[in-house]
Amino acid sequence: MSKSYEEIFKNNEIWVKEMLNQDANYFEKLASGQNPEYLYIGCSDSRATAEEIMGLQPGEVFVHRNISNVVNTLDMNATAVIQYAVDNLKVKHIIVCGHYGCGGIKAAMTPEDFGLLNPWLRNIRDVYRLHQSELDSITDEQKKYDRLVELNVQEQCINIIKMACVQERYLIDEYPIVHGWVFDMKTGKLIDLKIDFVKILKNIQKIYDLTNSNWMKSIKKK
Ligand code: CO
Repeated sequence: MSKSYEEIFKNNEIWVKEMLNQDANYFEKLASGQNPEYLYIGCSDSRATAEEIMGLQPGEVFVHRNISNVVNTLDMNATAVIQYAVDNLKVKHIIVCGHYGCGGIKAAMTPEDFGLLNPWLRNIRDVYRLHQSELDSITDEQKKYDRLVELNVQEQCINIIKMACVQERYLIDEYPIVHGWVFDMKTGKLIDLKIDFVKILKNIQKIYDLTNSNWMKSIKKK
């Protein structure tokens, strides 16, 4: 697994040759612009990559990654990525992808002082609090850990739907659609959590609808 620093540049040369073998104009096309249909928000974990696990090529997915795939309204980085993806790139799908065995989730489940990480882990600890009765009822620690990974994905999806740019764009062309996934690295499989957003949103619409109810009316019709 270990690679020296210099090896990276050798790898790059090999990759450039391979791509040019497949298509002599590959890099000209790549440089001409991007038109991705997907925004992927995933964990920074080195094993939870975007393109590889989705089988996509450069240019096909706009990516944001941070510890435990958190979308916090005060995080200018994540919100700028989402705003740009929705307003400018007009992505059709926004994917929040967590992964089982996530170190950030494990740390958040551990009541300890993690220094600078504390405010970040607070986002996940708040997810635990929102779902405390369900999580506390799970006696198997591994299952509880896995479930918090899933619930964190769900809450981050809801955080995206709370954003005005997402609601406004959805009203105009019924995109983007927000999806919650988990990457199971023990099998390599992507699991669609099939979160029932309409059901969830019906409970919270009066709080988060930023479009004078028009947005929720359009969702309710479905
Ligand atoms: Co992780």
